[in-house]
Amino acid sequence: MKTLFNFTTAAAALLFASAAHSQAPAPLKVGFMLPATGTFASLGNNIESGFKLFVQEQGGKLGGREIQYFKVDDESDPSKATDNVNKLIKRDQVDVLVGTVHSGVALAMAKAAKESNTLLIVPNAGADAITGPMCGPNIVRSSFSNWQPGYSTGVVMAQKGYKRAMTITWNYAAGNETVKGFAEAFEKGGGKVMKDLTLPFPNVEFQALLTEIAAQKPDAVFAFFAGGGAVKFVKDYAAAGLNKSIPLYGSGFLTDGTLEAQGSAAQGIFTTLHYADNLDTPRNNAFRKSYALTYKANADVYAVQGYDAAQILAAGLNAVKGDFSKRDAMTTAMRKVVVDSPRGKFTISPAGNPVQDMFLRQATGNYNEFRSVAVKALADPARGCKL
Ligand code: PHB
Repeated sequence: MKTLFNFTTAAAALLFASAAHSQAPAPLKVGFMLPATGTFASLGNNIESGFKLFVQEQGGKLGGREIQYFKVDDESDPSKATDNVNKLIKRDQVDVLVGTVHSGVALAMAKAAKESNTLLIVPNAGADAITGPMCGPNIVRSSFSNWQPGYSTGVVMAQKGYKRAMTITWNYAAGNETVKGFAEAFEKGGGKVMKDLTLPFPNVEFQALLTEIAAQKPDAVFAFFAGGGAVKFVKDYAAAGLNKSIPLYGSGFLTDGTLEAQGSAAQGIFTTLHYADNLDTPRNNAFRKSYALTYKANADVYAVQGYDAAQILAAGLNAVKGDFSKRDAMTTAMRKVVVDSPRGKFTISPAGNPVQDMFLRQATGNYNEFRSVAVKALADPARGCKL
C-alpha cells in the first residue's frame, strides 16, 4: 500500500513537472557579435546596452520568451569574422544573430546567416550589399545603409552652395560606399568631387592627407570616420588649423558618441544622420532618461540602433507569440513593423533597411543638435536586391 502511494505521488510529481516545463518555453538565444576591443569598442558596447535596455523595459521577455545572451568580440576584424560568427551559429546554436558595427565583418556575418538560415539583425554596419544583392527575409537592419548618410550630406552641401569638395575616409566598404552616396547627391546638386583621399582601416596617420587638403583648398571636406578614429581625425583637422579655413562635414558618425573626447575641436561641425541627441519628443526624452539612469551615460545613435534592433525582434516574436518555428510569419512581421524609435517612427523597406528621415545636426557642447530635416523618409535604392 505504502509503495503504491509513493509510486503515484512520484508519477504525479513527474507529470506536474513536465506540464510546468511545457508551459515555460526555453529562452530565446540571442548572439551578439560586436566589437569589444579596437577603434569601434564603445560603439559595440552602446549597441548592446541599447538592446538590453529595451528587453529590460519589457520585463526581460520578448513575445513571452526569456532572452539568453551569447557574446563574441569580433574586433572589427573581417579576417576573423567567419570563425567568429560560427562560434555563435554552430557552437552556441543561437536563434538570432545581432551584429555588427564594421561593414566588412557584417558582410561575412550575412553570408554565414544566409547559408545556415539564421535570423540576422544588423544594428549598425551599413554595407549596401546587405540590403542590396544579399537581401533576404532573414536579414533586417535597424540602422542605415552606407548610402543614406552619404547621400543626405551631399544634398546639404550642394544646397549650401559648395562647388568643389574633397572626401577623406578609410578604404573599406563603409568609407567607400558612404563617399559614393555623398558624390551621387553632391554632383547631382551641381558640385564636383575633386579628389577622394583614403587610408587603410583603422589607421589614424592623417598628417600627409591633411597637408594635401591644405594644398588643394577645396570649398569643403566630407569625411567618414567613426569611434576612436573619428576622435583623432577631428582633433588633427583642428590642430592643423583647417577648421578655420575649410569647413568639415561628415556622416554623423564623425561626431556621434565622440564629442566628449573631441572637445573644442568638434564644436560647430555639421553632419547628417538618422538621429539627433536633442530630438524633443516624448519618445526620445523617455529613452534618453531611461538609458542615462541605467548606464550612467548619455545615449547616442549606436544605443538607439541597438534598442531598435530589440524592438524589431519583439515585433516578430509578438506576432507569433514567441513560437520561433513560425519563421515566415515572424520575418513578415519584422518587415511590416512601424518602429517607434527614439529617432522618430520609421518603416522597413522590402529589402530590410530603415526608411527614415535624415537630420542635419550641429555639434554643440556634448550634443549633436537637430538643425533641420535634410531629407525626409529617405529610402536606400536597394540596388541589386531581388526579392
Ligand atoms: C561600418 O563599417 O559600416 C560603420 C562603422 C562605424 C560606423 C558606421 C558604419 O559608425
